[in-house]
Amino acid sequence: MLSILKRRSIRKYTDQRVSDDKVEQLLRAGMSAPSAGNGRPWHFIVVDDKEILSEIPKFHPYSNMLKEASHAIVVCGNKGEEKFEGYWVQDCSAATENILLMAEELGLGAVWLGVYPEKERVMQVQELLHMPNNVVPLSIVSIGYPAETKESINRFYPEKIHKNKW
Ligand SMILES: Cc1cc2nc3c(=O)[nH]c(=O)nc-3n(C[C@H](O)[C@H](O)[C@H](O)COP(=O)(O)O)c2cc1C
Repeated sequence: MLSILKRRSIRKYTDQRVSDDKVEQLLRAGMSAPSAGNGRPWHFIVVDDKEILSEIPKFHPYSNMLKEASHAIVVCGNKGEEKFEGYWVQDCSAATENILLMAEELGLGAVWLGVYPEKERVMQVQELLHMPNNVVPLSIVSIGYPAETKESINRFYPEKIHKNKW
């Protein structure tokens, strides 16, 4: 089955470290995403420091898995690099999904953790990672070797499809 149809959120990991080579492949996938006007306003903060990873669940309520993760990739938008105003969210979302799909392809487990538009989470991530104000964290991707398996789910609903008009 194709990775795009198999992908699930994986929140339990073994203690095996993900290699730098695999992390680079994840980042290559992120940077291969489409972006408005080809602006590519994204930046990626790779976090493998266990102390920093453990700080995040103190303010992000749905991120406990980071305590066991090998890495986190924080996908950020630099508003100063946007080609068209406001599109950084979509650009960084496309990059985030690409990272998740590459993780599946590489046999890794990953989950998208929402940051933006939760103001408090945005501020806390910016402070923790020493980010300037015009660089906004959109998501955190938690990554490790999977210690849980999940079935693929059929989410194809014909009633969601509209032809020519609503
Ligand atoms: C924008 C966004 C924010 C999310 N935030 C979180 C989160 O903070 N913590 C978490 O455990 N999962 C988070 N998820 C993962 C969703 O819960 C998950 O994708 C959804 O339940 C569907 O399950 P699946 O990914 O296994 O198909 C988020 C997903 C998206 C797209």
